Amino acid sequence: MLPSLPSPAAAPGAATTASADCARCHTTEAWRPSRITAASHQTFALRGAHAAAACASCHAGGTFVGAPRTCDACHQDSRHRGRLGTSCASCHGEQTWTEVARFDHARTGFALDHQHARTGCKACHGTSGRRLATVDRPTACQTCHRPARHGLQFGARCAQCHRPTTFRDVPSFDHAARTDFPLELRHSTLPCLTCHDARQRPAVNPACRTCHGDPHRASNSFDCLDCHRSDRWRIIRFDHDLTSYPLVGGHRVASCGGCHSNPNWTGVRTDCVACHAFDRPQTADHPMEITCDDCHTATRWRAILR
Ligand code: HEC
Ligand code: HEC
Ligand code: HEC
Ligand code: HEC
Ligand code: HEC
Ligand code: HEC
Ligand code: HEC
Ligand code: HEC
Ligand code: HEC
Ligand code: HEC
Ligand code: HEC
Ligand code: HEC
Ligand code: HEC
Repeated sequence: MLPSLPSPAAAPGAATTASADCARCHTTEAWRPSRITAASHQTFALRGAHAAAACASCHAGGTFVGAPRTCDACHQDSRHRGRLGTSCASCHGEQTWTEVARFDHARTGFALDHQHARTGCKACHGTSGRRLATVDRPTACQTCHRPARHGLQFGARCAQCHRPTTFRDVPSFDHAARTDFPLELRHSTLPCLTCHDARQRPAVNPACRTCHGDPHRASNSFDCLDCHRSDRWRIIRFDHDLTSYPLVGGHRVASCGGCHSNPNWTGVRTDCVACHAFDRPQTADHPMEITCDDCHTATRWRAILR
């Protein structure tokens, strides 16, 4: 039936309004087919694939007048799922969906900059074109890029440090202001990932032993920084005056190991002869038994107290 047109039964003689001009659409040969072809289908120009489509594919049930006119009324937007709005014709023609002449990718909310502009569609969208359709946050960098080396220790806001140029051009980062671990001395010249390599150190703990271990095996209660800075392990800055035995004279430049032989630094004898027994002159006139500091200080053996 043709509900929107004058019904054939009523047609002869029962001239109605706009549709009354039967000859506009019919010849006198037969009611079917009508005169209307793709070319003369004026109310809605049939181009491209539409010109080849069967009348009934748009006029199912014989609905002519009032057939939907907007692209999205007949075509399900299963590809973009509404993300690009409803004016399909601003990008698509009517021949095929895949040939898109005018397309500014920025309209998707994700402009293609730098390296991305040189990347083929399929690398991101897959051969089906639908790889991103099921992804939660398709525009987030980590959707497509794995930070294999540093992992997620810097959080998920990758764009703070990265742009689609190269992953190497990380902007300068004020480590002293933004963390409790200023980068000083030898640390200041290291590439970031020597410390932030997640494959070696999953979470960066600022304690020196995280990265350097503790050769002293936690054997004393002092802080590493009481003795070390990040220049050379062998440069020791311990303020020995804090102990019960301040260092004077030649002792100030003596190596720690000359007096200390155990890693908890305790149990060192303080009588001069304990360490200097073999230093004294083996001469008859030089005292052997009595306390050396009756006559000597640690400044110089030759400066005699008397
Ligand atoms: C705007 C175009 C148009 C006008 C005007 C028009 N028709 Fe039709 N008519 C059609 C179309 C299209 C068909 C379906 C043709 C087909 O199926 O191939 C049709 C089919 C018919 C049929 C055949 C129905 C059937 O079931 O086989 C009759 C009868 C008919 N029209 C009568 C009329 C009469 C009478 C008038 C004038 C009062 C009229 N039409 C005006 C477009 C029109
Ligand atoms: C791609 C979809 C499509 C195809 C294919 C199509 N039409 Fe249409 N047709 C429409 C649309 C859209 C309208 C306009 C409806 C409106 O504005 O009320 C329309 C309107 C009509 C009308 C009413 C026109 C008028 O002047 O009042 C007739 C009759 C019609 N089409 C017949 C045909 C016939 C016959 C064919 C096959 C040769 C055909 N159509 C193929 C979409 C289509
Ligand atoms: C009244 C329904 C209707 C409207 C409105 C309509 N189309 Fe269609 N379109 C069809 C039908 C039916 C076909 C052919 C069957 C198919 O391939 O889906 C088709 C086919 C197409 C094709 C070819 C599809 C392919 O797979 O090759 C494209 C492209 C297309 N239409 C684009 C559009 C655009 C763009 C608009 C808006 C300007 C639009 N259509 C409006 C019904 C419609
Ligand atoms: C901002 C431009 C734009 C708009 C608006 C737009 N599209 Fe697209 N569409 C594209 C681009 C670009 C493609 C991808 C073409 C390719 O894969 O090469 C595409 C692909 C498609 C495809 C899949 C083709 C395939 O075979 O994978 C369909 C279907 C489609 N669009 C339908 C629609 C419909 C329906 C609308 C309106 C609701 C619409 N599009 C609106 C740009 C647009
Ligand atoms: C670097 C990755 C990347 C490249 C290359 C890329 N896109 Fe996209 N595209 C995206 C992202 C991310 C989105 C946003 C996803 C969304 O909204 O679903 C998107 C969205 C789209 C959309 C709308 C959503 C959809 O899936 O239909 C279309 C269409 C589209 N891109 C087409 C293209 C075409 C055509 C090309 C090649 C010229 C291209 N893209 C190249 C990443 C890319
Ligand atoms: C939808 C997937 C997708 C998203 C989202 C995405 N990219 Fe890409 N990106 C690619 C693809 C594909 C390439 C090219 C292939 C490659 O080199 O990995 C690329 C290349 C790059 C490159 C160049 C890589 C190199 O080694 O030269 C950088 C840098 C980059 N993207 C950064 C980003 C940043 C930053 C973000 C977030 C703002 C982002 N990308 C979001 C897919 C994506
Ligand atoms: C605080 C800054 C910062 C943040 C935030 C950040 N990165 Fe990085 N990223 C770096 C640094 C530094 C490098 C090493 C650069 C170099 O090669 O010198 C790097 C390297 C990379 C590399 C190349 C090395 C590799 O693992 O293949 C990728 C990929 C990468 N980042 C992805 C990401 C992703 C994805 C995110 C978000 C989840 C992210 N980055 C967040 C600083 C950051
Ligand atoms: C010598 C080792 C070392 C180097 C080199 C280094 N970092 Fe760090 N970084 C750390 C440590 C340790 C922490 C933890 C500080 C804290 O807990 O306050 C940290 C913390 C951070 C944080 C904070 C993470 C958070 O949880 O908020 C960021 C971001 C960061 N570093 C980025 C960088 C960047 C970018 C570079 C290169 C310019 C860099 N780091 C170089 C050791 C280093
Ligand atoms: C997140 C890791 C990390 C932490 C924490 C860290 N460092 Fe380092 N440090 C390094 C790296 C990497 C080097 C480069 C040389 C190496 O691999 O030993 C380095 C180098 C050094 C050097 C120079 C070694 C040499 O032989 O050139 C010293 C000294 C040093 N650190 C002291 C410290 C002290 C003291 C602390 C605690 C305040 C500390 N570091 C905390 C990673 C770290
Ligand atoms: C009381 C002082 C003191 C404290 C506290 C201290 N160290 Fe040392 N450390 C030394 C001395 C002395 C040496 C030997 C220097 C030499 O070889 O000349 C040394 C050597 C080292 C070396 C180099 C070992 C080697 O084989 O070359 C490392 C690494 C080191 N310390 C790490 C640490 C760490 C980590 C801490 C904190 C857990 C720490 N130190 C605490 C005094 C100290
Ligand atoms: C001339 C000998 C001598 C030299 C050299 C020396 N110390 Fe000592 N140190 C002592 C004596 C003696 C004590 C007191 C021991 C005691 O109280 O058991 C002491 C105490 C300490 C203590 C305190 C131990 C505690 O638990 O109270 C530390 C730590 C220490 N020394 C570290 C060092 C370091 C580091 C160096 C090298 C920079 C160093 N010493 C060089 C003789 C020396
Ligand atoms: C725990 C061991 C130890 C004790 C106790 C000790 N010394 Fe020393 N002394 C050293 C070491 C180690 C050096 C530096 C290496 C060397 O020159 O033998 C040194 C250096 C000296 C020097 C400088 C030597 C030179 O050639 O410049 C003098 C002087 C000295 N001690 C005097 C004393 C006196 C006096 C006492 C007692 C008050 C004393 N020492 C107690 C270990 C000790
Ligand atoms: C009664 C005072 C006295 C006592 C006690 C004493 N010495 Fe001496 N010592 C001297 C004199 C005097 C010299 C010669 C200084 C000179 O040559 O100018 C000397 C010289 C030395 C020298 C050699 C200096 C040089 O450059 O050749 C050493 C080493 C020394 N004493 C170590 C010791 C030791 C170890 C003890 C404790 C066992 C000790 N002395 C106890 C008075 C004393």
